[in-house]
Amino acid sequence: MTASSIPGGTFITFEGIDGSGKSTQASLLADHLRTQGHDVVLTREPGGSTGAEEIRALVLEGDPDRWSAETEILLFTAARRDHLERTILPALAAGKIVICDRFADSTRMYQGLSRGDLRGVVDQLHDLMIGREPDLTILIDMDPAEGLSRAKSRQTAEERFEDFGQALQDQMRAGFLALSREFADRFCVINGTGTPQDVSHRVSDSVSEHLS
Ligand code: TYD
Repeated sequence: MTASSIPGGTFITFEGIDGSGKSTQASLLADHLRTQGHDVVLTREPGGSTGAEEIRALVLEGDPDRWSAETEILLFTAARRDHLERTILPALAAGKIVICDRFADSTRMYQGLSRGDLRGVVDQLHDLMIGREPDLTILIDMDPAEGLSRAKSRQTAEERFEDFGQALQDQMRAGFLALSREFADRFCVINGTGTPQDVSHRVSDSVSEHLS
């Protein structure tokens, strides 16, 4: 039996380029499912457990060259392992719906593509230490220029990838769309243009279809 066929709750992830609106959509989906009576855990990566939130500060703040590409893969994967053990798996075992803002597909993209071709290393480490894919991944697809200007207007201390600019955003968008074809069984691509409510209706329609 594979990890993803273990009985229990449903594991839904949101992915997309910086500024795609996926965090807003993850939260709107959680609200929607709760009003339908589902028990929902809304969480995020990097983070989602005490230890993983500490690692988040290490990878998203400070000098962008603080870590080598390989060390960065280890840190994101360490954060994910802690998050999985302490937050995600217990909630799924209790039959809950877990909605996670970013997961392993973000590592496949950001660490796997942005600083050379490290996708093979990311996948090996994932198989060794995580071994769990989501049941459903919602990719919020967005024009890279629009995403970047939204992300830039937020002004937080966490500017790790926004700072790499338009070329990286373009590469990430193409990469996420390629990933949606590679994992076509679990990916659902949602058009991220329009009001948050427009997008949220598209998301909830596709999630309802999956849950039924
Ligand atoms: P996030 O908080 O989702 O930012 P945003 O709302 O701007 O999308 O993610 C923070 C950053 O972390 C984002 O630039 C992508 C990066 N990231 C990785 O590089 N690898 C990973 O495995 C994850 C989960 C995130």
